[in-house]
Amino acid sequence: MTTDARADSVVVLAAGLGKRMRSPRPKVLHEACGRSLLAWVLDLARSVDPKRIVVVVGHGAEEVEASLASHPARPLVAFVRQEPQRGTGHALQCCMPALGPDPGRTVVLYGDMPLLRPESVRALVAAQQSATPGSRGGGLALLTARFAEPRGFGRIVRDARTKHVTRIVEDRDCTPEERAIDEVNLGVYCFDGRGLVAALPRLSDDNAQKELYLTDVLAMFVAEGRPATAIELDDPSEGIGVNTLAELSEARAVLQMRILEEHLANGVLVEDPATTYVDHGVEIGAGTRILPCTVIKAGVRIGAGCEVGPFTHLRPGTVLEDGAEVGNFTECKNSTLGKHAKAKHLAYIGDATLGDRVNVGAGTIFANYDGKAKHKSRVGERAFVGSGTVIVAPNTIGAGATTGAGAVVTKDSGIGPGEVWVGVPAHRLGSKPPAAPATAADAAGPANGGATRT
Ligand code: UD1
Ligand code: CA
Repeated sequence: MTTDARADSVVVLAAGLGKRMRSPRPKVLHEACGRSLLAWVLDLARSVDPKRIVVVVGHGAEEVEASLASHPARPLVAFVRQEPQRGTGHALQCCMPALGPDPGRTVVLYGDMPLLRPESVRALVAAQQSATPGSRGGGLALLTARFAEPRGFGRIVRDARTKHVTRIVEDRDCTPEERAIDEVNLGVYCFDGRGLVAALPRLSDDNAQKELYLTDVLAMFVAEGRPATAIELDDPSEGIGVNTLAELSEARAVLQMRILEEHLANGVLVEDPATTYVDHGVEIGAGTRILPCTVIKAGVRIGAGCEVGPFTHLRPGTVLEDGAEVGNFTECKNSTLGKHAKAKHLAYIGDATLGDRVNVGAGTIFANYDGKAKHKSRVGERAFVGSGTVIVAPNTIGAGATTGAGAVVTKDSGIGPGEVWVGVPAHRLGSKPPAAPATAADAAGPANGGATRT
């Protein structure tokens, strides 16, 4: 397989509603591992380094278009509206103005096939590229797979003698003999651009579904002597399209395993991949251990040598600096834990910045929401937050300060460095530690006789 396989244009079909999802959301906006199916497919489109990507939208068009605003492929993308949807061939017809008279080598992908690997699409492009042009020019290549249950798919019909692909027949248009064919069309093609542009206006809807079938372009190419090459997937599961929520969950599991394999290869110990959920794009440093039953959402950054889990939930905006540890039933959101900070049990850390070596006791809550707005808290390095403390935000806790077990630190209390606060509502124990140098009054030490200023 050549590695420089390159397409000029990629068309992504994403106009369908996906009725069988039984969801009002456009199908391609359903998410797997923290991003939409369509976002996964756009990564795939980028893998053949095209000059342009045309995304065909219809159902929920505005929502679909907006969803890609920050995707790295977005600068290459033009959207084309297809309303109503009259079949895959009609979808390509709608792209003709965007593609122009010579779109070059053109790949077609579906927005609902997130499992296809870049290697497979590149092999497809390479096959189209290397086939000898026929009497009328370049040909096409298509991806096929053999499914034990081919129902619903277009079947690949081959010449009995030469074994070359001659047609694709849709399930509903099959004769009983054709229906028995187990080689199916996955709907992923690489076309000679001019050949495609010449064929599209000649499609007819003379078929069981009264639709314009893109699959009919293949027979037109063959009639013109253009080569048609089938590339069969080694791993047919790459060809799984998402049509139902059950298929979405299957696809998610496959994508999840690929993400975890990448982290494992990078030196992150994922102890139990079966119960570990890590979204796309999460950064994790080497030597970090991810323990079972842990959920890490998109937009989380974890340093080296950390420990996460078991039973931890890290939500967007969480940053764990090197050596930080979060344990069971701890949830973090939009918060930073400094180096070697610990929150090992039963805590909610929301909208907070914790310095190095802060220790968050079991049952601590950062009460970040007052019913109207979210507020931030800061905890200085080496502070010791006692078990069951509630810190009502906004608030600051100075470096080396201590809160007693069960303290409710009311908002804006502003605990100073080294102070010890206890009770409900929390109040300072002992006199306020003065600025250095220490005075005689300070030498009496905090009234609980425990924590001292560092
Ligand atoms: C199509 C192929 C079939 C193949 C199957 C693989 C045709 C005629 N048939 O089946 O050979 O086995 O895919 O899944 O092409 N879409 C649009 N606009 C439309 C129709 C479809 O954008 O007017 C999009 C859908 O959103 C979807 C994709 O194209 O992402 C495929 O559509 P779908 O209806 O699932 O495929 P079929 O036509 O049944
Ligand atoms: Ca389908």
